[in-house]
Amino acid sequence: MTIAELLVHDTELDQFIEVMDHRLPSIDAVEEKITALHESFYFLLSKDFIPREYKKDIPGIFAQYLLYRNAERNLSLMAMVVPPKISTPIHNHLAWGLVGVYQGTQREIVYETIGEPDLEHNQAQLRTISENILEIGDITTLEPPHNDIHMIETISEEPSISLHLLGNDIGCQARHAFDQESNSVRQFTSGYVNAECN
Ligand SMILES: [Fe+2]
Repeated sequence: MTIAELLVHDTELDQFIEVMDHRLPSIDAVEEKITALHESFYFLLSKDFIPREYKKDIPGIFAQYLLYRNAERNLSLMAMVVPPKISTPIHNHLAWGLVGVYQGTQREIVYETIGEPDLEHNQAQLRTISENILEIGDITTLEPPHNDIHMIETISEEPSISLHLLGNDIGCQARHAFDQESNSVRQFTSGYVNAECN
């Protein structure tokens, strides 16, 4: 049996979790879940609630720090810290979500697959949908199968930090990383710097 894990003790975060606990159970549609949390999520982005140890960049990689996940593991909040000039692979999430910039500036490229990916043979073709420059307070939403594939690069001189609220346990979820040049796809699990996956 799993239990909820709260790795940050802060009243603003407690209030956000209360809002989620109160609103989400009565909502089925992903679009409505996103709408119901958008304002509170935006408010949280402006609060200095992430402890210093979970804002630390790790040279060369994107670091994911778990802040909260519920017992059912269908809700997780994490901070992703990306050093300057470093990018994530092109990846999917396989759950609805809200992603907001907390520090620095990010360049995001959004993709979609052309046809069904052939996961058995690790093949997937992508087309680029949009390129976005994201500043502090900017929020993007994930609504699989739409807007679920992207890559993020830090373009500010300081590391970027984005806050990710996902409808799964994102660090422990087996998902996919894509390579647009070779039309290939592989399964990966991103993990958390500060929490285990069972
Ligand atoms: Fe992402």
